[in-house]
Amino acid sequence: MEATTFVLFGATGDLAKRKIYPALYNLFIDQKLPASFSVIGLGRRELSNEVFQKNVEQSLRSFSRRAVDDPGSVKAFLEAFRYSVLDVGHKEDYQKLLQLVEQREAELNIPQNRLFYLSVGPEFFDIIATSIKESGLGSTKGWKRLIIEKPFGHDLQSARELNQKLSISFAEHEIFRIDHYLGKPMVQKLEVLQQANPVLQALWTNHYIANVQITAIETVGVEERAGYYDHVGAIRDMFQNHMLQLLMMLSIHLPKGSTSEEVRLKKKRIMEALEPLQKEDVAMNVVRGQYTAGTIQGKAVVGYKDEPGIGQDSMNDTFIAARLEIDDVFWREVPFYIRTGKRTQEKSTRIVIEFKEPLKQHSSTYEEKTNPNLLIFEINPNEGITLQLNTKDPQHEGEFKPILIDFHTSRKDVPEAYENLIYDALRGDPTFFAHWDEVELSWKWVQPILNAFEENLVPLHPYSAGSFGPDEADQLLARDGYHWCTNS
Ligand code: BG6
Repeated sequence: MEATTFVLFGATGDLAKRKIYPALYNLFIDQKLPASFSVIGLGRRELSNEVFQKNVEQSLRSFSRRAVDDPGSVKAFLEAFRYSVLDVGHKEDYQKLLQLVEQREAELNIPQNRLFYLSVGPEFFDIIATSIKESGLGSTKGWKRLIIEKPFGHDLQSARELNQKLSISFAEHEIFRIDHYLGKPMVQKLEVLQQANPVLQALWTNHYIANVQITAIETVGVEERAGYYDHVGAIRDMFQNHMLQLLMMLSIHLPKGSTSEEVRLKKKRIMEALEPLQKEDVAMNVVRGQYTAGTIQGKAVVGYKDEPGIGQDSMNDTFIAARLEIDDVFWREVPFYIRTGKRTQEKSTRIVIEFKEPLKQHSSTYEEKTNPNLLIFEINPNEGITLQLNTKDPQHEGEFKPILIDFHTSRKDVPEAYENLIYDALRGDPTFFAHWDEVELSWKWVQPILNAFEENLVPLHPYSAGSFGPDEADQLLARDGYHWCTNS
């Protein structure tokens, strides 16, 4: 891997502490960082290099997946870190940064490969990208890349505007848009599982699949993010990005050895084939909910409107369920159900494939007795694959018994999403980053929903914290004769 300077905007922020430093450290321990590697952290606060390194060390001790017990390794890792004060609006600060970057490149005798990571609020994306160009930081003799966090825009128009602005300073192949769901190991495995298993390949069509259920629910509430969350809701926070990415990753068909261009092209095709919703149809196909007070795992929690920073008149969605259809030869007439929400009974990110039931189709005698034949991908918090099959029940003549074929891995052995993504960005592999085409098409698909919400065409259903969301989310499936497959 080529020597690189990792320039981190937002180096004193929460994401850096919780995710980025631990990810870098774990890559370092796994020898997946370039041999010569320099990190320059940037923030508004004055900090010495020593204090910055101490803070980084503290974050490793709090959040690293791998043990932080070898003083030699920790020291070697921290030596790569330098700090510089930067106010995003101050041109002089970028000049100071350029000097520091060049000085470190000279000290380490490394080429000018620069990875700029924007771990800052979206309001700063534009000014930072522009200043990188104008200051000369972006005029490297090596390569330059930009890693950018979500949210990428607030709606279709603002996303287009942002992309337009970024594209003045960085080409599309230099922009790595993080969607951390694409970094999750099980999501990355979806691609390979299909390519390497003829059994799955053969089944991946509407001949055999009855429906697909994609769930990402969580027990946490709005936490300390009221200012952000109350303006975006579950539809922008989770659905437009993470959930649609899961849908794309699951539904693409890939020949063995597909390149990143092919993966992204296929994802784009899926988005293009997604049946568009008209504003008037949203209420039939999308359920929105907001949590009220309840109990989660024995603990009483307040309702959304009583959370700090949220007003009693908030109409924000904390839960979304939707029914989607992909109009292509593989998926025509297979409903995809997506749901995501906060303050639900459990934390669970999973994809369930429900197969058609031939016995049900052919004979009513068996109707009540078979269980759905399922393939379940557990993504978070556990990682695993389960196949549920119907077998004969030896105890009850003529009846069926479900058996589970189960594979689970221990979380300790599984790299964090950020490890995978930073590693890929360092190598310049864009496969698991969101291409602009996907982002634009996602916003385009979601826009009528945003409009319908704005015009109050879709009721906001209350659901108790600790439930699985509003009953209307169950009815969405019941209409088609299905139900959500849950753990509990
Ligand atoms: C983030 C959202 O992108 O994903 C959060 O902003 C959400 O609101 C989080 O809690 C969920 O991520 P994970 O990896 O815990 O499923």
